[in-house]
Amino acid sequence: MSRVYVFNQLGGPEHEELVDRPVPTPGDGELLVAVRAAGVNPADAKIRAGGLGPDRDLPVAMGLEVAGVVAAVGDGVRDFAAGDEVLAPVRVGRGGFAEHTLVRAAHAVVKPAGISFVDAAVLPVAGTTAFDLTHQVEVDAGGTMLILGAGGGVGHLAAQVGRVRGLEVVGVASEAKRELVESTGATFVPSGAHFADAVRQLAPDGVDLVVDLVGGDALRQATVLATRPAGVVSAADGLVTRLGGSLRQRVPGALARITNLVADGRVDPHVTATFPLERAREALAVVESGHAAGKVVIEMVAP
Ligand SMILES: NC(=O)c1ccc[n+]([C@@H]2O[C@H](COP(=O)([O-])OP(=O)(O)OC[C@H]3O[C@@H](n4cnc5c(N)ncnc54)[C@H](OP(=O)(O)O)[C@@H]3O)[C@@H](O)[C@H]2O)c1
Repeated sequence: MSRVYVFNQLGGPEHEELVDRPVPTPGDGELLVAVRAAGVNPADAKIRAGGLGPDRDLPVAMGLEVAGVVAAVGDGVRDFAAGDEVLAPVRVGRGGFAEHTLVRAAHAVVKPAGISFVDAAVLPVAGTTAFDLTHQVEVDAGGTMLILGAGGGVGHLAAQVGRVRGLEVVGVASEAKRELVESTGATFVPSGAHFADAVRQLAPDGVDLVVDLVGGDALRQATVLATRPAGVVSAADGLVTRLGGSLRQRVPGALARITNLVADGRVDPHVTATFPLERAREALAVVESGHAAGKVVIEMVAP
């Protein structure tokens, strides 16, 4: 048997529990992964709260991104073998907060030896989101990028990737995250009523790219600061399309590319807290608060 963290009813965290299930069997094109670490994302709680609609078979295994060791491969898998260290996104319901899970071989990449399982585990969702948002719109090196939510899981990664792209980065976050934001090379601006005025002073001609991880009124105010509406991208709020910008769009090869940046020491995943699987509820609560700093990871005991 193998342990997995599930929710057994849509709603709040009281419906989460750690249960046993048989070790899953990989199907065509799949890898069975012995999970060593799994990143926690706001989407985990949103799905539990019913964000994907009510028509789900219950219980639903939780967790959307993992790093671990391939334990077995399904038919048709040629690029991976048992014993390989990998990182990969996990389809909804397959369960990343688990001792074992299944991932698509086509979506997995080899974990470089120099990256820990904990750091690797935050790249399939948060890492690729940061990479996509900073690449889906053309911006010349030397341009200015504004990030709303720059101290959160995606935001601090986006700030670092932006710096690698040669962009001047302005990061908006709460005062508690000043140090984290500044450590990425970004200029810190405190969130709140006056953030737009502060950004306007730093970039009087406007910002070339707005990366929004907050949505709502902050997104509206930031859009006015952009040199053009098409330069506004969001992972947080569909409102962005009505304002002339775009939601996150997948950039080919993003997982391999962000993994290489981490392996080269140019981007630090900055995991601020790890929890054992038995304390998954606490890990999810930190992220569900909406005020997490950096990334939170659930770490499985090494065999
Ligand atoms: N579409 C996708 O594929 C995709 C993928 C990943 C994430 N997302 C979404 O993107 C959003 C961010 O994800 P995440 O993983 O980075 O979340 P996170 O780790 O919870 O970070 C969110 C950050 O936003 C900050 N924040 C909240 N209100 C703010 C405001 N008014 N101004 C500036 N900062 C503010 C929070 O800290 P403070 O309150 O302390 O500032 C926190 O650091 C979530 O809505 C998530 O669901 C979407």
